[in-house]
Amino acid sequence: MILPGSHSQSLSARLAAATDHRLARVSYDRFPDGELCTAVASLADGNEAALAGEEAVVVCSTVSSDAHLELLQLQDAAREAGADRVTTVIPYMGYARQDEAFKPGQPVSARAVARAVSTGTDRVVLVSPHEPDITAFFDVPCDLVNAAPRLAEPLPDGLDDPVFVAPDEGAVGIAERARDAYGRGAADYFEKERDYDSGSVTIHPGNADVSGRDVVLVDDIVATGATMSESIEALHGRDVNRAYVVCIHPLLVGNARTKLESAGLAGIWGTDTLERDVSATSVAPLLADLF
Ligand code: R5P
Repeated sequence: MILPGSHSQSLSARLAAATDHRLARVSYDRFPDGELCTAVASLADGNEAALAGEEAVVVCSTVSSDAHLELLQLQDAAREAGADRVTTVIPYMGYARQDEAFKPGQPVSARAVARAVSTGTDRVVLVSPHEPDITAFFDVPCDLVNAAPRLAEPLPDGLDDPVFVAPDEGAVGIAERARDAYGRGAADYFEKERDYDSGSVTIHPGNADVSGRDVVLVDDIVATGATMSESIEALHGRDVNRAYVVCIHPLLVGNARTKLESAGLAGIWGTDTLERDVSATSVAPLLADLF
C-alpha cells in the first residue's frame, strides 16, 4: 500500500497506477494546538493488522518541517497497522543541501534528518538529491533514482540545434542525461559563483556555444531562481534563439517564478517530486521499476 504525504499526492497516485500497490487515503488534519493529526483513513476500519503481510510505501517530499514530521507519522502508522516492511520514498528531500557544517556550531542537518527517517523504515529511496553522498547518512539501505532523463519529456520536439547548459560544472551530468533522453543536441556548462552571505549569484558564460541555438538551461533545483535568472541574463546579447529552463525539483520559493518569467523564458518545467504548476513530467515510471 502506498501512503502519500500531503505534498506527494499526485506522484503517489501515479506510482500506484504504475504498480500493483493500493493507494491509501490519508487525512492531513491538526489538533487544536496546531500539532499534526495525520491519519491513514483507509486503515480506520478497526483492523489493527490491516497491513500484515504487506509492504507499506511512504511517499513524502519533505518540503517543510511539518512534512518531515508527517513522514515520521506515516511510517509509524504503517508499523502500527502491522506492515511487514516499510519503504520510504523521499522524492524531494529537504535539508539535503545541508550535508556539512558550513560554519562552526552548525549541525549536519542532512545527517540528522536521515537518522530520524531511518528509525521508521527498512529502506529509503531518494530522487536526485543534490549530493548523492548523503545516502551514507542513512542507517538503512538507501537507493538513488536519477530523474534527469525525465527532463526531456516536456520539451518541444523541434528544438533548433539545441544546447543543454548547466549553470555550473557540477550539474553538467544532468544536462548530458537530459540531452541524451531528448536524442540530440550538445551539452555544456557555465561557471557560477555564489556569495553565501548575500545569497547573490554570478554566472560567467565561459566558452559555451549558444549563438543561434535553442538553449535549455538544466539544473537539479530551482529554489530562489537566482541561479537560473542570472543564467538567462548571461544569454542576453549572445544571439540566442529561445531559452527554456528544466529542473528536477521546482522548489520555486518566494518570487522565483516572477524572476524567471521577467528574465524572458520560452518555457519552464520540472518533475513532480514537488507539486507545482510547472511539474510537467513524472518520476513515477522510474520509481515503479523499484517495486
Ligand atoms: C546548487 O548548486 C543547486 O544545484 C542549484 O543551482 C541551486 O540550489 C539553485 O538555487 P537558487 O534557485 O536559489 O539559485
